[in-house]
Amino acid sequence: MLSRTDILALLRETDPAAREDLRRKADEVRRREVGDEVHLRGLIEISNHCTRSCFYCGLRRENRRLPRYRMTADEILACARQATEFGYGTLVLQSGEDPTLTGESVAKILRRLKSDPATRQLAVTLSLGERSKEDLALWRSAGADRYLLRFETSNAELLDRLHPPLPGRPSRIDLLDLLRDLGYEVGSGVMIGLPGQSYDDLARDIECFAARHLDMVGVGPYLPHPDTPLARGTAPLPEDRQVPNTEEMTYQVIALTRLACPRINIPATTALATLNPAEGYRRGLQCGANVIMPNLTPAKYRAYYEIYPGKASSRETPEQTHARLRGILESLGRTVGRGRGDSLRKSASPG
Ligand code: 5AD
Repeated sequence: MLSRTDILALLRETDPAAREDLRRKADEVRRREVGDEVHLRGLIEISNHCTRSCFYCGLRRENRRLPRYRMTADEILACARQATEFGYGTLVLQSGEDPTLTGESVAKILRRLKSDPATRQLAVTLSLGERSKEDLALWRSAGADRYLLRFETSNAELLDRLHPPLPGRPSRIDLLDLLRDLGYEVGSGVMIGLPGQSYDDLARDIECFAARHLDMVGVGPYLPHPDTPLARGTAPLPEDRQVPNTEEMTYQVIALTRLACPRINIPATTALATLNPAEGYRRGLQCGANVIMPNLTPAKYRAYYEIYPGKASSRETPEQTHARLRGILESLGRTVGRGRGDSLRKSASPG
């Protein structure tokens, strides 16, 4: 078990050989605990409407420059069939916090997905933001298998400043407990290098991944969006405390997450691939990651799901993304995961 002091030292490590050593260890743990399969989760960004005002996110309600869209149920079903054709085991439905996606309208989509012979074998992950207990329970009973909700940072003061809370609503951390109680597999994660995020905060985030018994943890660099207040001049911490939003720091966090949570699913994220389009996915998979979430959102909507600018593969078709990812896996001697790629967290370790 890594102590806070160990984690902090490894986050602050600047010697390339020592960093490489950590990544190699994480790669060994990944191989021993979850194997060489890389699970592909087809991502559909079903709506970019959002009622929230997060200071970092391009979908925030105040961003009037962004054209808004919402996919129809038929469009979502057509994308889901494509996931099956590509051999993906999981479908992820993601959106901003869009109240027009009501409990019942999402439940209806779930029931269609879970009864259509072309899609019913897919595991379904929802990532629709902070929703009521009633909605989350309804969606679970309508067939949703997993829920993805990043807690963004374990520093509550920083989170409240950058992610204005809604009065009387449970915190994201509390929602993760509720989701587990409802029987979801639970995914979460944080951004790396938010202005104001210290090394100590990030070390606590990593401890929190293990303490919260998460099934999946996704981490990616914070990427400034010009149409957000955070990009327009929020002062970072002094250099010796501020976490940098770099590719190298992201690899360190992926590797530490694998060591802290040996049997969970860890994606190489789109934000990482945005920082390094040529190598981000590959290098993420080499330091602890075992999941990729290829984007299946139709071309006509893709550019508008602009959480941050320049999102990786936003000009590729799903076919092109799929072919490129297969090439990466092959060159690494890894295989496309078969089946749904359910969490192994609670099953016994082979090693
Ligand atoms: N840079 C990187 N990641 C971001 N997210 C939101 N805004 C940004 C940004 N500017 C991440 C958050 C959110 C996920 C869907 O995208 O972690 O939970």
